[in-house]
Amino acid sequence: MKIYILTLFPHLFEPFFKDNLIGNSIEEGYLDIEIMNFRDFSQDKHRKVDDVPYGGGGGMVLKPEPIWLAYQSIPEDTRKKAQVIIPSPRGKLFRQQMAMDYSEKENLIVVCGQYKGIDQRIPVLLNAEEISIGDYVLTGGELPALIILNAILRFVPGVLGDIGSALNDSFTESPELLGHPSYTRPKEFQGLKVPEILFSGNHKAIDDWRREQALETTRKNRPDLDNK
Ligand code: ADE
Repeated sequence: MKIYILTLFPHLFEPFFKDNLIGNSIEEGYLDIEIMNFRDFSQDKHRKVDDVPYGGGGGMVLKPEPIWLAYQSIPEDTRKKAQVIIPSPRGKLFRQQMAMDYSEKENLIVVCGQYKGIDQRIPVLLNAEEISIGDYVLTGGELPALIILNAILRFVPGVLGDIGSALNDSFTESPELLGHPSYTRPKEFQGLKVPEILFSGNHKAIDDWRREQALETTRKNRPDLDNK
């Protein structure tokens, strides 16, 4: 999968694409990530990328031209096949199913906003999906972009050694179910014992227990999810 990230802060991304599963996948050729600073496409003599909002109000709005020119510099066949994502608190709430769906795209283009957001003609022209990571407002789109990409890239073939482990994560088996608890050695730690069932070797009983635990946690932590 080839991914383009359009941002004013390229250096924020670099550490997240090194020395981890994503970094390994880049080295092994499963992923190719190109980070573009759209300030480089500003035609303003002061390299300005923002301006005051029409209609008044506080904050600054990212101008459409630099983002448009950065986007246009991406090869046309890539642009045609790409899903464009714009992180925004005004967007659709990001869910695991979206991560799975986007992982099947050949190309992703992620455009990171700042300040009061991006001129609204950009999502229209780029046919972008505006995506929110939650009901709170951050200072910019870079952290949401990293979160969204991380969730998507786990499902790209080759990125996770054991895709099976991703498939029983929270929300993956069922969009309405949190994951089950996990334990490893030692059998007893600070007086707390690993549940006996996990040593039984009875896979059906273990699956049933894990499901019951998942349901209980979901009811307690996420009563908004539909698990009657
Ligand atoms: N940019 C600022 N806040 C955001 C949010 N909650 N989700 C996505 N992008 C954002």
